[in-house]
Amino acid sequence: MGFETSDDAAIYKLNGKLALIQTVDFFPPIVDTPYLFGQIAAANAMSDVYAMGGRPVTAMNLVAFPCGTLGQDVLAEILRGGAEKIKEAGAVVVGGHSIEDKEPKYGLAVSGLVEIENLVTNAQAKVGDRLVLTKPLGMGILATALKGGEVDEGEIMPAIEMAATLNRTAAEVMTKIGVNACTDVTGFGLLGHLKILLDASGVGAQIKAEDVPVWPQAVSLAEIGLIPEGCYHNEEDLQNSVKLGSLEDSLKSVFFDPQTSGGLLISVSRQRSDELVNALKQAGLNTHAVIGEVVPQAGGVGVIEIV
Ligand code: CO
Ligand code: CO
Ligand code: CO
Repeated sequence: MGFETSDDAAIYKLNGKLALIQTVDFFPPIVDTPYLFGQIAAANAMSDVYAMGGRPVTAMNLVAFPCGTLGQDVLAEILRGGAEKIKEAGAVVVGGHSIEDKEPKYGLAVSGLVEIENLVTNAQAKVGDRLVLTKPLGMGILATALKGGEVDEGEIMPAIEMAATLNRTAAEVMTKIGVNACTDVTGFGLLGHLKILLDASGVGAQIKAEDVPVWPQAVSLAEIGLIPEGCYHNEEDLQNSVKLGSLEDSLKSVFFDPQTSGGLLISVSRQRSDELVNALKQAGLNTHAVIGEVVPQAGGVGVIEIV
Protein backbone atom coordinates (compact mmCIF):
# COMPACT_ATOMS: atom_id res chain seq x y z
CA MET A 1 0.00 0.00 0.00
CA GLY A 2 1.21 3.51 -0.64
CA PHE A 3 1.27 6.22 1.98
CA GLU A 4 -1.19 8.41 0.08
CA THR A 5 -4.33 6.64 1.34
CA SER A 6 -3.16 6.55 5.01
CA ASP A 7 -4.35 2.98 5.48
CA ASP A 8 -4.21 1.20 8.84
CA ALA A 9 -1.24 -1.08 8.34
CA ALA A 10 1.61 -1.82 5.97
CA ILE A 11 1.04 -4.53 3.36
CA TYR A 12 3.87 -6.52 1.78
CA LYS A 13 2.98 -8.88 -1.04
CA LEU A 14 4.59 -12.27 -0.43
CA ASN A 15 3.36 -14.00 -3.58
CA GLY A 16 0.36 -13.94 -5.92
CA LYS A 17 -1.98 -15.09 -3.16
CA LEU A 18 -0.70 -13.91 0.18
CA ALA A 19 0.41 -10.64 1.77
CA LEU A 20 2.12 -9.79 5.05
CA ILE A 21 0.49 -7.14 7.28
CA GLN A 22 2.63 -5.20 9.76
CA THR A 23 1.46 -2.81 12.44
CA VAL A 24 2.53 -1.50 15.86
CA ASP A 25 0.82 0.35 18.68
CA PHE A 26 1.45 1.03 22.38
CA PHE A 27 0.25 3.53 25.00
CA PRO A 28 0.01 4.27 28.76
CA PRO A 29 -2.70 2.63 30.92
CA ILE A 30 -6.27 3.81 30.31
CA VAL A 31 -7.79 1.63 33.06
CA ASP A 32 -6.66 0.79 36.61
CA THR A 33 -6.49 -3.00 36.49
CA PRO A 34 -3.18 -4.08 34.90
CA TYR A 35 -4.66 -7.26 33.46
CA LEU A 36 -7.47 -5.34 31.69
CA PHE A 37 -4.99 -2.77 30.40
CA GLY A 38 -2.93 -5.60 28.90
CA GLN A 39 -6.01 -7.03 27.19
CA ILE A 40 -7.08 -3.67 25.76
CA ALA A 41 -3.58 -2.74 24.55
CA ALA A 42 -3.18 -6.09 22.78
CA ALA A 43 -6.67 -6.03 21.23
CA ASN A 44 -5.96 -2.49 20.03
CA ALA A 45 -2.57 -3.37 18.55
CA MET A 46 -4.00 -6.28 16.54
CA SER A 47 -7.01 -4.30 15.35
CA ASP A 48 -5.36 -2.83 12.26
CA VAL A 49 -4.73 -6.38 10.99
CA TYR A 50 -8.44 -7.14 11.34
CA ALA A 51 -9.41 -3.83 9.69
CA MET A 52 -7.59 -5.04 6.57
CA GLY A 53 -9.31 -8.42 6.56
CA GLY A 54 -6.28 -10.31 7.86
CA ARG A 55 -5.33 -12.47 10.83
CA PRO A 56 -2.50 -11.81 13.29
CA VAL A 57 0.14 -14.56 13.34
CA THR A 58 2.99 -13.25 15.51
CA ALA A 59 3.26 -10.54 18.15
CA MET A 60 6.14 -8.93 20.04
CA ASN A 61 5.63 -7.22 23.37
CA LEU A 62 6.65 -3.57 23.69
CA VAL A 63 7.07 -2.63 27.35
CA ALA A 64 8.06 0.53 29.18
CA PHE A 65 7.95 0.04 32.93
CA PRO A 66 9.12 1.72 36.16
CA CYS A 67 10.65 -1.34 37.82
CA GLY A 68 11.72 0.73 40.82
CA THR A 69 8.25 2.02 41.77
CA LEU A 70 5.77 -0.55 40.46
CA GLY A 71 6.12 -4.22 41.36
CA GLN A 72 7.01 -6.93 38.86
CA ASP A 73 3.63 -8.49 39.62
CA VAL A 74 1.93 -5.49 37.96
CA LEU A 75 3.98 -6.04 34.80
CA ALA A 76 3.24 -9.77 34.94
CA GLU A 77 -0.49 -9.00 35.00
CA ILE A 78 -0.25 -6.61 32.03
CA LEU A 79 1.61 -9.24 30.04
CA ARG A 80 -0.85 -11.96 31.09
CA GLY A 81 -3.75 -9.87 29.76
CA GLY A 82 -1.90 -9.28 26.52
CA ALA A 83 -0.87 -12.92 26.15
CA GLU A 84 -4.46 -14.10 26.58
CA LYS A 85 -5.68 -11.81 23.80
CA ILE A 86 -2.86 -12.88 21.50
CA LYS A 87 -3.76 -16.51 22.13
CA GLU A 88 -7.45 -15.76 21.53
CA ALA A 89 -6.43 -14.19 18.21
CA GLY A 90 -4.67 -17.41 17.24
CA ALA A 91 -1.30 -15.65 17.17
CA VAL A 92 1.86 -16.36 19.18
CA VAL A 93 4.19 -14.17 21.22
CA VAL A 94 7.63 -14.43 19.67
CA GLY A 95 9.59 -11.98 21.79
CA GLY A 96 9.67 -8.34 22.69
CA HIS A 97 11.63 -5.50 24.14
CA SER A 98 11.39 -3.59 27.42
CA ILE A 99 12.83 -0.37 28.76
CA GLU A 100 12.80 1.39 32.12
CA ASP A 101 10.39 4.34 32.05
CA LYS A 102 8.62 6.47 34.67
CA GLU A 103 5.23 5.92 33.08
CA PRO A 104 4.25 2.37 32.12
CA LYS A 105 3.40 1.72 28.48
CA TYR A 106 2.43 -1.48 26.73
CA GLY A 107 1.57 -2.62 23.25
CA LEU A 108 2.55 -4.95 20.44
CA ALA A 109 4.31 -5.08 17.13
CA VAL A 110 2.12 -7.43 15.11
CA SER A 111 2.59 -9.39 11.90
CA GLY A 112 -0.44 -10.79 10.15
CA LEU A 113 -1.36 -12.50 6.93
CA VAL A 114 -4.11 -11.81 4.44
CA GLU A 115 -5.18 -13.62 1.30
CA ILE A 116 -4.88 -10.89 -1.32
CA GLU A 117 -8.40 -11.62 -2.60
CA ASN A 118 -9.69 -10.88 0.94
CA LEU A 119 -7.66 -7.71 1.48
CA VAL A 120 -9.90 -4.82 2.50
CA THR A 121 -8.51 -1.30 2.17
CA ASN A 122 -9.90 2.09 3.12
CA ALA A 123 -9.95 3.29 -0.49
CA GLN A 124 -12.84 1.48 -2.19
CA ALA A 125 -15.96 2.91 -0.55
CA LYS A 126 -18.63 3.45 -3.23
CA VAL A 127 -21.51 5.90 -3.48
CA GLY A 128 -24.62 4.20 -2.08
CA ASP A 129 -22.65 2.02 0.38
CA ARG A 130 -23.99 1.65 3.89
CA LEU A 131 -21.61 2.50 6.74
CA VAL A 132 -21.59 0.04 9.62
CA LEU A 133 -19.91 0.65 13.01
CA THR A 134 -19.33 -2.37 15.25
CA LYS A 135 -18.58 -0.87 18.70
CA PRO A 136 -20.19 2.04 20.60
CA LEU A 137 -18.29 5.34 20.89
CA GLY A 138 -17.16 7.18 24.01
CA MET A 139 -14.27 5.15 25.43
CA GLY A 140 -11.95 8.17 25.42
CA ILE A 141 -14.37 10.20 27.54
CA LEU A 142 -14.92 7.25 29.88
CA ALA A 143 -11.17 6.68 30.32
CA THR A 144 -10.69 10.39 31.04
CA ALA A 145 -13.45 10.26 33.67
CA LEU A 146 -11.83 7.18 35.19
CA LYS A 147 -8.47 8.91 35.38
CA GLY A 148 -10.12 11.94 37.01
CA GLY A 149 -11.89 9.78 39.58
CA GLU A 150 -15.36 10.72 38.27
CA VAL A 151 -16.28 7.06 37.73
CA ASP A 152 -14.79 3.81 38.92
CA GLU A 153 -13.90 0.82 36.80
CA GLY A 154 -16.96 -1.16 37.84
CA GLU A 155 -19.30 1.55 36.55
CA ILE A 156 -17.84 1.47 33.05
CA MET A 157 -17.06 -2.26 32.86
CA PRO A 158 -19.21 -2.92 29.74
CA ALA A 159 -17.17 -0.33 27.84
CA ILE A 160 -13.89 -1.72 29.21
CA GLU A 161 -14.87 -5.23 28.17
CA MET A 162 -15.84 -3.96 24.74
CA ALA A 163 -12.45 -2.28 24.36
CA ALA A 164 -10.83 -5.60 25.29
CA THR A 165 -12.92 -7.40 22.65
CA LEU A 166 -11.00 -8.35 19.52
CA ASN A 167 -12.29 -7.12 16.17
CA ARG A 168 -11.69 -10.68 15.00
CA THR A 169 -15.31 -11.81 14.69
CA ALA A 170 -16.31 -8.62 12.91
CA ALA A 171 -13.39 -9.04 10.50
CA GLU A 172 -14.22 -12.68 9.78
CA VAL A 173 -17.85 -11.84 9.07
CA MET A 174 -16.84 -8.89 6.89
CA THR A 175 -14.47 -11.06 4.87
CA LYS A 176 -17.10 -13.75 4.40
CA ILE A 177 -19.78 -11.32 3.17
CA GLY A 178 -17.46 -9.16 1.08
CA VAL A 179 -17.32 -5.42 1.71
CA ASN A 180 -15.91 -2.43 -0.15
CA ALA A 181 -13.80 -0.69 2.50
CA CYS A 182 -12.93 -0.77 6.18
CA THR A 183 -10.93 0.98 8.86
CA ASP A 184 -10.92 0.78 12.65
CA VAL A 185 -11.93 3.69 14.85
CA THR A 186 -9.09 4.80 17.13
CA GLY A 187 -7.35 8.08 18.00
CA PHE A 188 -8.99 10.32 15.40
CA GLY A 189 -12.46 9.33 16.53
CA LEU A 190 -15.36 8.21 14.35
CA LEU A 191 -15.36 11.32 12.18
CA GLY A 192 -11.57 11.48 11.80
CA HIS A 193 -11.26 7.89 10.64
CA LEU A 194 -14.34 8.20 8.44
CA LYS A 195 -12.78 11.27 6.84
CA ILE A 196 -9.58 9.35 6.01
CA LEU A 197 -11.63 6.57 4.42
CA LEU A 198 -13.71 9.06 2.42
CA ASP A 199 -10.64 10.94 1.18
CA ALA A 200 -8.94 7.70 0.17
CA SER A 201 -12.09 6.61 -1.67
CA GLY A 202 -12.94 10.00 -3.20
CA VAL A 203 -16.47 10.14 -1.78
CA GLY A 204 -18.50 11.83 0.97
CA ALA A 205 -20.84 10.55 3.66
CA GLN A 206 -24.06 11.29 5.44
CA ILE A 207 -24.28 10.10 9.07
CA LYS A 208 -27.55 9.72 10.94
CA ALA A 209 -26.67 10.88 14.44
CA GLU A 210 -29.45 8.96 16.19
CA ASP A 211 -28.29 5.67 14.66
CA VAL A 212 -24.69 5.87 15.91
CA PRO A 213 -24.07 3.51 18.85
CA VAL A 214 -22.67 5.40 21.86
CA TRP A 215 -22.09 4.64 25.56
CA PRO A 216 -24.83 6.68 27.29
CA GLN A 217 -22.46 7.40 30.23
CA ALA A 218 -20.03 9.06 27.81
CA VAL A 219 -22.77 11.40 26.60
CA SER A 220 -23.69 12.34 30.20
CA LEU A 221 -20.06 12.91 31.12
CA ALA A 222 -19.57 15.08 28.03
CA GLU A 223 -22.63 17.06 29.08
CA ILE A 224 -20.89 18.03 32.33
CA GLY A 225 -17.76 19.01 30.43
CA LEU A 226 -15.61 15.91 30.89
CA ILE A 227 -14.06 16.03 27.45
CA PRO A 228 -10.55 14.81 26.58
CA GLU A 229 -8.10 17.15 24.81
CA GLY A 230 -8.16 14.83 21.83
CA CYS A 231 -11.82 15.62 21.13
CA TYR A 232 -10.95 19.27 20.58
CA HIS A 233 -7.93 18.42 18.41
CA ASN A 234 -10.00 16.10 16.26
CA GLU A 235 -12.77 18.67 15.89
CA GLU A 236 -10.26 21.37 14.94
CA ASP A 237 -8.67 19.14 12.30
CA LEU A 238 -12.07 18.42 10.77
CA GLN A 239 -13.75 21.80 11.01
CA ASN A 240 -13.85 22.27 7.23
CA SER A 241 -15.02 18.74 6.49
CA VAL A 242 -17.88 18.10 8.88
CA LYS A 243 -21.32 19.71 8.68
CA LEU A 244 -22.63 19.20 12.17
CA GLY A 245 -26.20 20.41 11.55
CA SER A 246 -28.17 20.62 14.79
CA LEU A 247 -26.06 18.00 16.60
CA GLU A 248 -25.98 18.71 20.33
CA ASP A 249 -22.57 19.44 21.87
CA SER A 250 -22.36 16.33 24.05
CA LEU A 251 -22.98 14.00 21.11
CA LYS A 252 -20.57 16.03 19.00
CA SER A 253 -17.83 15.37 21.57
CA VAL A 254 -18.57 11.65 21.44
CA PHE A 255 -18.34 11.64 17.62
CA PHE A 256 -14.89 13.30 17.82
CA ASP A 257 -13.82 11.26 20.87
CA PRO A 258 -10.48 9.42 20.43
CA GLN A 259 -11.18 5.71 20.83
CA THR A 260 -8.85 3.06 22.16
CA SER A 261 -9.51 -0.32 20.59
CA GLY A 262 -12.66 0.97 18.90
CA GLY A 263 -14.77 -0.97 16.44
CA LEU A 264 -14.54 -1.50 12.71
CA LEU A 265 -16.10 1.08 10.42
CA ILE A 266 -17.21 -0.83 7.34
CA SER A 267 -18.43 0.43 3.97
CA VAL A 268 -20.62 -2.25 2.41
CA SER A 269 -22.74 -2.20 -0.73
CA ARG A 270 -26.43 -1.50 -0.18
CA GLN A 271 -27.25 -5.00 -1.52
CA ARG A 272 -25.05 -6.74 1.03
CA SER A 273 -25.68 -4.48 4.02
CA ASP A 274 -28.61 -6.47 5.45
CA GLU A 275 -26.65 -9.67 5.04
CA LEU A 276 -23.67 -8.13 6.88
CA VAL A 277 -25.79 -6.78 9.74
CA ASN A 278 -27.58 -10.11 10.18
CA ALA A 279 -24.36 -12.10 10.02
CA LEU A 280 -22.76 -9.84 12.67
CA LYS A 281 -25.79 -10.40 14.88
CA GLN A 282 -25.65 -14.15 14.35
CA ALA A 283 -21.97 -14.10 15.27
CA GLY A 284 -22.95 -12.63 18.64
CA LEU A 285 -22.16 -8.94 18.04
CA ASN A 286 -25.01 -6.85 19.42
CA THR A 287 -23.61 -3.34 19.40
CA HIS A 288 -23.18 -2.77 15.66
CA ALA A 289 -25.39 -0.46 13.62
CA VAL A 290 -25.80 1.05 10.19
CA ILE A 291 -24.88 4.67 10.88
CA GLY A 292 -25.20 6.27 7.48
CA GLU A 293 -24.29 6.03 3.84
CA VAL A 294 -21.69 7.02 1.30
CA VAL A 295 -22.73 9.90 -0.95
CA PRO A 296 -21.13 11.64 -3.95
CA GLN A 297 -18.62 14.35 -3.03
CA ALA A 298 -20.66 17.48 -3.22
CA GLY A 299 -19.19 20.25 -1.10
CA GLY A 300 -15.56 19.19 -1.53
CA VAL A 301 -13.23 16.34 -0.67
CA GLY A 302 -14.48 13.89 1.95
CA VAL A 303 -17.28 16.01 3.36
CA ILE A 304 -19.31 14.44 6.17
CA GLU A 305 -22.84 15.66 6.73
CA ILE A 306 -24.51 14.80 10.00
CA VAL A 307 -28.30 14.65 9.96
CO1 CO B 1 -6.37 1.65 12.40
CO1 CO C 1 -2.60 1.71 14.53
CO1 CO D 1 15.83 -6.13 22.24
